[in-house]
Amino acid sequence: MAAAHGGQIDTVMHEERRFAPPAEFAQQARIKSLDEYQALWDQAAADPPKFWADLAKEELHWFQPFNEALVWKEPFAQWFVGGKTNVSYNCLDRNLAAGLGDRTAILWEGEPGDTRKLTYAELHQEVCKFANVLKQLGIQTGDRVSIYMPMVPELAIAMLACARIGAIHSVIFAGFSAEAIAERNRDAAAKLQITADFGWRRGKALALKDTVDEALAKSPTVEKCIVFQRGTGKASGTGSGANVPQAKMQPGRDFWWHELMKEASAECPATPLDSETPLYILYTSGSTGKPKGIKHTTAGYNLYVKKTFQWVFDHREDDIFWCTADIGWVTGHSYVVYGPLSAGATVLMYEGAPNYPDEARFWQLIEKYKVTIFYTAPTAIRAFIKWGDQHVKKHDLSSLRLLGTVGEGINPEAWMWYHRTVGQERCPIVDTWWQTETGGIMMSPLPGAIATKPGSCTKPLPGIIPAIVDPDGEPVGTHQGGWLIMTHPWPGMLRGIWGDDGRFKEVYWTRVPGKYLAGDNARCDDDGYYWIMGRIDDVLNVSGHRLSTIEIESALVSHPDVAEAAAVGRPDDLKGEAVAVFVTLKRGVPNDAMREELKKHVRHEIGALAQPDDIRFTNALPKTRSGKIMRRLLRDIAAGKETSGDTTTLEDFTVLAKLRHNEE
Ligand code: WTA
Repeated sequence: MAAAHGGQIDTVMHEERRFAPPAEFAQQARIKSLDEYQALWDQAAADPPKFWADLAKEELHWFQPFNEALVWKEPFAQWFVGGKTNVSYNCLDRNLAAGLGDRTAILWEGEPGDTRKLTYAELHQEVCKFANVLKQLGIQTGDRVSIYMPMVPELAIAMLACARIGAIHSVIFAGFSAEAIAERNRDAAAKLQITADFGWRRGKALALKDTVDEALAKSPTVEKCIVFQRGTGKASGTGSGANVPQAKMQPGRDFWWHELMKEASAECPATPLDSETPLYILYTSGSTGKPKGIKHTTAGYNLYVKKTFQWVFDHREDDIFWCTADIGWVTGHSYVVYGPLSAGATVLMYEGAPNYPDEARFWQLIEKYKVTIFYTAPTAIRAFIKWGDQHVKKHDLSSLRLLGTVGEGINPEAWMWYHRTVGQERCPIVDTWWQTETGGIMMSPLPGAIATKPGSCTKPLPGIIPAIVDPDGEPVGTHQGGWLIMTHPWPGMLRGIWGDDGRFKEVYWTRVPGKYLAGDNARCDDDGYYWIMGRIDDVLNVSGHRLSTIEIESALVSHPDVAEAAAVGRPDDLKGEAVAVFVTLKRGVPNDAMREELKKHVRHEIGALAQPDDIRFTNALPKTRSGKIMRRLLRDIAAGKETSGDTTTLEDFTVLAKLRHNEE
């Protein structure tokens, strides 16, 4: 367990508060009571493949029915074998067939205040046209398409168009650097890049195409690039429109989105695809320097995100659902795009920052669009608390009926603030635990059925069977911390790491043989509620984003002046964890200019999200006699704590003393 999470665990260990589902909410909910939840969970646990197969028949369109629910050749799962379906069909055509063509699919607002609205019929048309554009550029089933875009509807359109023809998308969060894009493009052997000229963030137009140009110089497999013209947004909003970046178009390689779309036909039937056709690759950090390309496939993922969306968010026809995550992360894939759209929901999509033009932007959006379900991250909630209640209170939030969180544990006091100030003590809160690897939500309260306790993600969803075990794989007792595992396959599970079966087996299936190792510590209380206690490996959680310490270290060491580097997390009130690094230099002067230079270097290598918060210079790093960096010690030093535990294996005690006194 990371020391950085210690504070949070201490507080949640003693949490006694309990909030029953409001009676009125429960009465109208899809799942209305604990008994109803328990009955469903028991039924699923008795025969998970049958449970999922029955749902799959109802919830997805089948061009050809499947003949086997699950083929499990540990650790490789195949769900709904023999069947043919299509995720884009399930999100669009199936809704049109159900008469929902005029329903709003996407409500969009750009940061400058420009707005758009797409009905299911309009979204369908755009997706069909763009799928034809993809085909025309030579993209076929199985080809990889890299997407680096701001939060505009065209990002969802591009993903759904790939899904329509069976091309595999790899969406890269638009805050990553050119190096990070190129690394992912090479790993996936992407054939096509899709981007925009720029995107708005906190009043600035970020030149995405320039970053892509730099990435494409190092992405030899990418043949063509489609560029969406973002537009200034000035017609209806606050953007100045002046000095926006101009994309430099390379003839023969680069094409404007709008020009290709002008010619494209709106006729494009969805390709019937085998259930296990890969849908997407999404890169996430692991405990080595190389990001893992998490692979999700068609039918199982689609079913899982649809059902979990309906269960957890208790979706109703008239809901306006707002998940604030960027589509560049798994939360956006599953709960901005695929889950809500396959359920025929109306989603709000917002391009920019929560504090632009001021700190009330989110509350203003909730009031304006009458958002009923609001799903955000604890790091955002901590920022709202810091900015002050006055911003929230200025706006009418009476449309809200349900709140959610994801990405990291929520501190009980932040939970209480969310409950009182945003939810006005009326809205249940769903604290949803899941991962890029799990595809969708695994543990969460069902808001009409399960009483909440601040800081706990409560219980597993139907069909999900977790356990907490010790390093020998033996179950631990109630209240005892241990490794969180999943004992049975589920349809939304990752199908592998792109191009690396060995790493897939080793990371998830070896330490507890044959069981899925989530990589988190957890404990269970007397009511069977789960409490997540932080990672078991060297993965950091900075503002809800996963970062590998080794990835940051590798970035630092790639700087010509750096000899050695160690990165650790330290507790931070806003970000959850901040990045603290210890650096030994081979030349150059250990001063503030060097600190800035190294921060810039990490931004360039990975992206702004990985930029170190603290940089300390040292003559040597504390190591064991076998040469391993003593991270526990560094974490304590970074947190400003007295060093604890056994230090007798330290190679050089003077290193420790110096670091503690922050000598350079
Ligand atoms: C952490 C995000 C506590 C956890 C969907 C997990 C959480 C990692 C929660 C996955 C939560 C996510 N409570 N911790 N409700 N949700 N985490 O892949 O450590 O970006 O393993 O997926 O975030 O992060 P990822």
